[in-house]
Amino acid sequence: MKQLIIVLLVSLVLFSCKEERKQPKEELIMYQSSEMAALMNAMYEGNMTIKDKILEGERIGDFPETYLNIHNAVLTDPADRNASFEAFSKLYIQNMQLVYSGSKDSLKQNFNQAVNSCITCHKTTCTGPIPRIKKLLIK
Ligand code: HEC
Repeated sequence: MKQLIIVLLVSLVLFSCKEERKQPKEELIMYQSSEMAALMNAMYEGNMTIKDKILEGERIGDFPETYLNIHNAVLTDPADRNASFEAFSKLYIQNMQLVYSGSKDSLKQNFNQAVNSCITCHKTTCTGPIPRIKKLLIK
């Protein structure tokens, strides 16, 4: 019984330490929801749908104009919107538009290129979701 109480006390202390510990920046980015985080999640879902359509040989429709909000959506940390972020987001949009306007033969290749430009930007800003984003790639 005494041991049990000690175990409980220790876990209580550990738990409260964890609560109070300052989270590293990356974790903070992952758990707070910003306009940009919401857009990112929408792009993730949208591209998962496109991946399935490509695999099924279905039409993918038109480029979702909402993706252009990457140029002005508010970030969790507004300082992340620097010159390199702007450059990577332009490249990403170009690649994504090519998925919708390019030839059917290069659809899979163009799609993977667009997903890789998600990953390229994430390597510089927010590495946490990279393993998840890689699941979008068509093998
Ligand atoms: C130009 C850089 C850039 C590009 C391109 C980019 N991301 Fe992000 N992504 C970020 C940043 C920065 C955040 C953190 C956003 C925030 O917290 O405000 C983020 C956050 C995320 C998140 C986590 C959202 C959350 O709930 O916290 C996911 C998932 C994600 N991106 C997926 C994607 C996918 C999928 C693509 C491509 C279709 C993509 N990203 C393209 C920079 C980028």
